[in-house]
Amino acid sequence: MQTLVTGGAGFIGSNLVRALVETGHQVTVLDNLLSGYRSNLEPFPQIRFIESDVRDPDAVAQAVQGAEVVFHLAASVGNKRSIDNPRGDAEINVLGTLTLLEACRKAGVRKIVTSSSAGIFGELKTIPIREDHPIEPDSPYGCTKLCEEKHCLVYAKLYPPFSAVCLRYFNVYGPNQRFDAYGNVIPIFVFQMLRGEPLTIFGDGEQTRDFVHVKDVVQANLKAAMTRSVSGAFNIASGTRITINRLVELISQAAGLTPQLRHGPPRPGDVRHSLADVSKAATELGYNPAVGLEEGLAEYVQWAASELARGKTG
Ligand SMILES: NC(=O)c1ccc[n+]([C@@H]2O[C@H](COP(=O)([O-])OP(=O)(O)OC[C@H]3O[C@@H](n4cnc5c(N)ncnc54)[C@H](O)[C@@H]3O)[C@@H](O)[C@H]2O)c1
Repeated sequence: MQTLVTGGAGFIGSNLVRALVETGHQVTVLDNLLSGYRSNLEPFPQIRFIESDVRDPDAVAQAVQGAEVVFHLAASVGNKRSIDNPRGDAEINVLGTLTLLEACRKAGVRKIVTSSSAGIFGELKTIPIREDHPIEPDSPYGCTKLCEEKHCLVYAKLYPPFSAVCLRYFNVYGPNQRFDAYGNVIPIFVFQMLRGEPLTIFGDGEQTRDFVHVKDVVQANLKAAMTRSVSGAFNIASGTRITINRLVELISQAAGLTPQLRHGPPRPGDVRHSLADVSKAATELGYNPAVGLEEGLAEYVQWAASELARGKTG
């Protein structure tokens, strides 16, 4: 199958590219390297890489040429980034997505699989979170990810047999996820622990999160691409939750280190508990999260240690 991966030089995108290449698919990547890395694609010399912007109609038209399925991951990612630059967030996530959808329509692409976020739900009212949970985003990013979903689904309604699958990721972690200022707790804790720096737990640490390994997110993308004529939005998570205190214990076991802990006040806007109901994706896409947190963390700690050993700061 011929595919396009927008944002393929990023964390999740590069893991998806690996899986596509390993299963014999042809891959084009469109990425402007805003938060992605050329080095993430070095292991795959067989792919076509277009260093360009998803908002550029000519580059996007060239990228979708011949593609049967488009995986759309290019985005301005994260709540904080969107609060710092709401206009930039909207230009990439809304106008970039529309530019891509128009190119898909003109080129006769069969399906788009887009990367949405649990951030669209906003404050959580019921647990576990089903797809029909109230949607009240509390950041510009949550709004633009919702808009991205809606535009994809509108194109599926307007232009059959084109179909659109919107995957709402919860907290994703795994190799190629760098230490980042935009709040992903696993890379922050792992890199801090490996560097011998103290870890800060906000609040009492008894808040819970649903962490999903990037291999399972990749599995969801592949299954969404293969499932014919399904359109809709699906939660993609592990369907299990863990407290931040227990997460710290598991990371220290995986790293064989005892961290120095600091406690800070709860962060405004942080939800207390998060847990996804993934049964819709299981039933309709055959999604079956398979990587346990202990196993996934052991692999991630190893990856982070090798990055630090190569002189990368994370
Ligand atoms: N990591 C998570 O926990 C998580 C959770 C929910 C949703 N998502 C979504 O998954 C997708 C991938 O996220 P990620 O975590 O891999 O982040 P990432 O920042 O590593 O990847 C995003 C990629 O998009 C590229 N990009 C940004 N703007 C672009 C533009 N204008 N044109 C072309 N390329 C552009 C970046 O260079 C980068 O390679 C995003 O759509 C994000 O919203 C991620």
